[in-house]
Amino acid sequence: MKIKNICCIGAGYVGGPTMAVIAQKCPEINVTVVDINEKRIAAWNDKDVENIPIYEPGLSKVVDEARGRNLFFSADVDKAIDQAEMIFISVNTPTKAYGMGKGMAADLKFIELCARQIARVSTSDKIVIEKSTLPVRTAEALKNILENTGNGVNYQILSNPEFLAEGTAVEDLMDPDRVLIGGDIDTEKGKEAVEALVNVYAHWVPKERILTTNVWSSELSKLTANAFLAQRVSSINAMSELCEKTGADVNEVAKAVGMDSRIGSKFLKSSVGFGGSCFQKDILNLVYIAKSFGLNEVADYWEQVIIMNDHQKRRFAANIVRTLFNTVAGKKIGFLGWAFKKDTNDTRESAAIYVADYLLNEQAEIVVYDPKVKEEQINADLDYLNTRSEKENRQRIKAVNDPYQVSKEAHAVAILTEWDEFKELDRKRIYDEMLKPAFLFDGRNILHQSSQKAIGFKTYIIGENCDLL
Ligand code: NAI
Repeated sequence: MKIKNICCIGAGYVGGPTMAVIAQKCPEINVTVVDINEKRIAAWNDKDVENIPIYEPGLSKVVDEARGRNLFFSADVDKAIDQAEMIFISVNTPTKAYGMGKGMAADLKFIELCARQIARVSTSDKIVIEKSTLPVRTAEALKNILENTGNGVNYQILSNPEFLAEGTAVEDLMDPDRVLIGGDIDTEKGKEAVEALVNVYAHWVPKERILTTNVWSSELSKLTANAFLAQRVSSINAMSELCEKTGADVNEVAKAVGMDSRIGSKFLKSSVGFGGSCFQKDILNLVYIAKSFGLNEVADYWEQVIIMNDHQKRRFAANIVRTLFNTVAGKKIGFLGWAFKKDTNDTRESAAIYVADYLLNEQAEIVVYDPKVKEEQINADLDYLNTRSEKENRQRIKAVNDPYQVSKEAHAVAILTEWDEFKELDRKRIYDEMLKPAFLFDGRNILHQSSQKAIGFKTYIIGENCDLL
């Protein structure tokens, strides 16, 4: 089957970059990315390609090359669905905030809406692809809706989870470790659909890196991959606390452990805690699924990864309060970074939000600098927690455009995101302009204790033995 038109529902952090790369690599396929958020679509269509709504190194160049040629962004969802032979569903699947499974299960209402819309609009056969991360066996529900409410056309459902990491999305899409495609490989039609998607990726991904499995393995592999990645972060973070007590240095431990080829060196960097829209929600989803099968030990095992992460964020914030003579009330605390990691403007579940919330409860005054995050987003992140009034959030936290305004007359500066530019800041200037003692809290392990000491800072670096504790 030759694919001429692809539609992607959801123009977010996954839909946007993924489709931009498919369009760039497959110039003979028309790719239309649709979204109900018209403002987001308008930003994707902004004349100045630097204004696209998602910041990823290299993305604007890819969009610039393909946009208007065979890459389109549109709010006309029905039209794009009807025209496509292949439809990716790439909408958000947040943790449920109400009802059964509240705080754990994935909220599938956006997925179901998509399925119903596809069923209503389609007048020709479609291959429907789960690109969003979904609980195992969701394809069954999709099939049920499509076949029972549709216009009698045929549907093949594939699972094609996305493994890109924000901050390196374009690189990951161009050169993926593997592409995973789950389909109904026991039937001819199922095989054909899998083959059609394999052929799209084969434009640039070597065939041996395109893995095909049954649908359930594919769905569950994505949750498993995120659980394993997050588990490594929580494992090294658990060790960071022990390092601080024993005089071991977590960087040295990580290096020594990571050189064991059975373990490997990636994802062993200790920090204030992982963030991002995926790890927490996907593990909670996994925990919920395990519990629903009565697998309580399996559920408890994975839940501990989240408990450890929450502990790491809380103890970082508590350290700041304890070190600042047990009170931060009315004190200016400077934050370097708000995004959940460097090279992205995504702030979802960022550790900075929770550290700020803790300190605001202690009545601190916070000033933030992040090269890609605006004040509007910071306010929205805090308002979402509902801890205090919107008015109070706006009174107590401010964003600035200059990193040195963060440290000026501050009692403490905390590094919350590992942006490269923070390593280049003039630390002597920062020290001189701060109140004394000048406390520096490195939540991303980008500084070295000894060089800060030489300047005069009193420094806490995660996982290093220090005199502040
Ligand atoms: P996002 O929130 O950035 O984008 C989702 C978009 O879908 C939004 O713009 C929303 O307006 C749109 N949408 C929702 N319902 C719609 C509907 N019925 N019709 C049209 N548009 C609709 O989410 P993101 O980060 O792109 O994630 C999407 C999925 O991909 C999630 O399931 C996530 O778990 C998964 N994923 C995310 C990764 C990441 O790094 N962000 C990596 C791998 C997977």
